[in-house]
Amino acid sequence: MSFHQARYPERLVKEYSSDNSSFIEYTEIPEWFPDSMRRGSLNLPQIAEYDVVRHFTRLSEMNYSVDTGVYPLGSCTMKFNPKYADRIASIQEFSEVHPLSGEDNMQGSLRIMYELQEMLKSISQMDEVSLQPPAGAQGEFTGIMIIRKFFEVNGEGSIRNEILIPDSAHGTNPASSAMGGFKTVEIPSNGDGMVDLGALESALSERTAALMITNPNTLGIFDSQISEIARMVHSAGGFLYYDGANFNAILGKTAPGKMGFDITHFNLHKTFATPHGGGGPGAGPVGVVKKLKDFLPVPIVRKNMERYFLDSSLKNTIGKVAGFYGNFGILLRAWAYIRRNGSDGLCEITERAVLNTNYLAGKLSQKYRIPYAKIKKHEVVVSSEGTGKRALDIAKYLLDQGLHPPTIYFPLIVKEALMIEMTETVSREDLDLYAESMLKALEVSESEISEMPRNTAVRRVDEVKAARDQILRW
Ligand SMILES: Cc1ncc(COP(=O)(O)O)c(C=O)c1O
Repeated sequence: MSFHQARYPERLVKEYSSDNSSFIEYTEIPEWFPDSMRRGSLNLPQIAEYDVVRHFTRLSEMNYSVDTGVYPLGSCTMKFNPKYADRIASIQEFSEVHPLSGEDNMQGSLRIMYELQEMLKSISQMDEVSLQPPAGAQGEFTGIMIIRKFFEVNGEGSIRNEILIPDSAHGTNPASSAMGGFKTVEIPSNGDGMVDLGALESALSERTAALMITNPNTLGIFDSQISEIARMVHSAGGFLYYDGANFNAILGKTAPGKMGFDITHFNLHKTFATPHGGGGPGAGPVGVVKKLKDFLPVPIVRKNMERYFLDSSLKNTIGKVAGFYGNFGILLRAWAYIRRNGSDGLCEITERAVLNTNYLAGKLSQKYRIPYAKIKKHEVVVSSEGTGKRALDIAKYLLDQGLHPPTIYFPLIVKEALMIEMTETVSREDLDLYAESMLKALEVSESEISEMPRNTAVRRVDEVKAARDQILRW
């Protein structure tokens, strides 16, 4: 058997069928090929290539994505995904590296991961970073497990069993806390949309393991009391956890480390413009202060002279939270984005995102109520309460206009909330169009808007049926 035969045992045969009515193509497997490796009968559907292409093209045209238009889904930071990052991620030496190929064969990939760890340390002002978790929520869970293990190792595991979380928080925060075995204590917001310090003071105790908070919060408001909050939590013996989902508002301006935080996660798929997908797969690296370094998930990428290697020897590590080294394709894109923008570029991203939000907020304030402080950071929450329209109807109207609606009914502390996040790459034309459409929505008659959307592949779903008649398994 020749080398060529061994690699390419199949031979393409073309011939007419026995009754000469059709032309058949099949691959002939030579006799020497082992029976155990032969494919049995195949029953492939017979369909023309152009029908398949047209079918999938039509389906792809029904999709709305960051590549087709603005995607102002508040809290999700749906950024345009730059194509240079995709190109770099598809370089064969990266995309085909085998996770078990060994450190010597993947020095380039390890270098990228090492540099990303270092850049994230500098951006967050944390002392050590693990790239392992594959999403923001996974990063949260990792952080919670680190806190839990820290108190277990230090003999306070059975005492510190509460995580404090503001009422404006994203749902994944209490979920992570509960999954980590903690009791969640909700902290109300004050009249300015910030943490109510009196309520925080009364909630803090020897049971407090941590306060989990994002700053700016989900209302787009920067909590200027953060240093005081850090002091209070630390003096009660707890940790301060930074939900890094809103990093787009602080890049290069401040950092969790500067604000007094002990742990943070990054949502690389939000802040660093990597694909978000339907809830992932993304990447949610976790950064910690010195005191918690030893508890991070492994491996951490380290450098010795010019050689990069994986270190799994952390004394108190919580173990692994993802397969191999995390979501490398996403890590690579985030590395490319940070390198391409540099520190000045990252600062500018924040400035543009904040400017875009406030420009839009200014226009919407003509007809919508904007609760709490007027100046927002990366996102704004407006309320349709008092306009005669439900947030849901406005969202359906926007869909009908070919626009992606904002997040609605979140945060829970604002009635009829529409949470809009215009990232830095949204143009002034798009901001004007969006504002105009949201204002026009208020003029559409009740009977007309209740029929919308009319121009989408799926029209308005029956919410009552969906809630009552749930199909939870298949
Ligand atoms: C404030 C906040 N925290 C946490 C998360 C969870 O992040 P991920 O979607 O990466 O799991 C989100 C997601 O949108 C968020 O907006």
